[in-house]
Amino acid sequence: MPAQAEAGAYFEVRPAVLLPRLEGLHALTKPGVRGFPDVEAGQALLAQTLRKDRVKGEVLDLTAMGGLLAALPGVTLRPVEGSAAALTVLGAAGLDPLAAAPGDDLRERWPERARTVALVLAGDRGTAYAMGQVAWAHACTPPGGTLYLAGDRDKGFDRYVRAAGAAFGTGETIARDGGMRVARLVRRPGPTPAFPEPEGYEAFGVQVVGLPGVFSAGRPDKATSLLLGALEGLDLTGRQVLDLGCGTGLIGAWAARRGAEATLVDGDLQSVRSARATLAANDLPGEVLHSDVDAALEGRTFDMVLTNPPFHVGRGMVLDVAREFIAAAARRLKPGGTLYLVANEPLPYETPMRAVGPVRELRRENGFKVLAATRVG
Ligand SMILES: C[S@@+](CC[C@H](N)C(=O)[O-])C[C@H]1O[C@@H](n2cnc3c(N)ncnc32)[C@H](O)[C@@H]1O
Repeated sequence: MPAQAEAGAYFEVRPAVLLPRLEGLHALTKPGVRGFPDVEAGQALLAQTLRKDRVKGEVLDLTAMGGLLAALPGVTLRPVEGSAAALTVLGAAGLDPLAAAPGDDLRERWPERARTVALVLAGDRGTAYAMGQVAWAHACTPPGGTLYLAGDRDKGFDRYVRAAGAAFGTGETIARDGGMRVARLVRRPGPTPAFPEPEGYEAFGVQVVGLPGVFSAGRPDKATSLLLGALEGLDLTGRQVLDLGCGTGLIGAWAARRGAEATLVDGDLQSVRSARATLAANDLPGEVLHSDVDAALEGRTFDMVLTNPPFHVGRGMVLDVAREFIAAAARRLKPGGTLYLVANEPLPYETPMRAVGPVRELRRENGFKVLAATRVG
């Protein structure tokens, strides 16, 4: 039962590995959380900086990850996350997190704004997303309140701090560790910067709505295009199809357009909203769930699983999420059902895919391959 065995390990919440300079603190983590198995470097530097500044009281953490800031003495954390994996970990830590994405109004949950706000910029998700994070942090910080903003020098940190400084009226970088930086900004009265607009394009007969920071928000991904091209002749009428890691929802919407009963899942809340907007823009039916891999799917099973799995979580290459995508397909496919997967040529997915059934290569082009495995029985 290799698929089941891996599922157990993937969903297990465990203590994060902490650097000696975070001595006395603790956080939980699991595969799929940024920084796993360690604490993400930006959040680690934030914790050190808040400890040095002796920050106490309510702290709104807009990128709470494994909840490290909750371990600071005297801090009461308001943890906010968009990652389903991180929300699981925060829940396991008893922190009662809020699922939200840049731009969300948090006043329903916390009518009074906290005096201290913390945020790690996701520079790897592109300029529009990071600028949306800056605008959100501004909207969440009351005049006179302080924002601690962490980010990576090599992912545009200085540029984002300049933009934040223009909105806040002040700001300086106060901590450095390798490429990581933390800036402290005290908000003066003034307007919140505008939130970036969604992008949109047409591909494979689908009008795609790409919210900032969502994978291939501005144009179709080459690998996804290869997958859909390879599946051109497939009859999807009345079939139950799972789009695993749906991003903008292009694959699921394409399947729904061809008569499938489509279910789309993504671990990222912004992607879930993007996929819902794509289905709505095309007037297509389909269910979109916010889910760490297949965790939210309860007892559902499928005739087909279509996926372009992730191999990054934040900065590094991480294959444990992709391997769990394959294990989830093995769990969720009905007998005779097929997993169709596209990946970069060198990625070693054939071996885990054998847990589904014998593996066929349908196409190999421009550095990508389309693989299929049908569940026997
Ligand atoms: C390579 S992108 C593919 C997106 C979309 N299917 C496409 O082809 O354009 C992989 C997707 O997997 C999602 N993802 C990453 N980790 C996940 C997890 N643990 N559970 C569910 N989805 C996840 C990402 O948010 C991203 O949207």
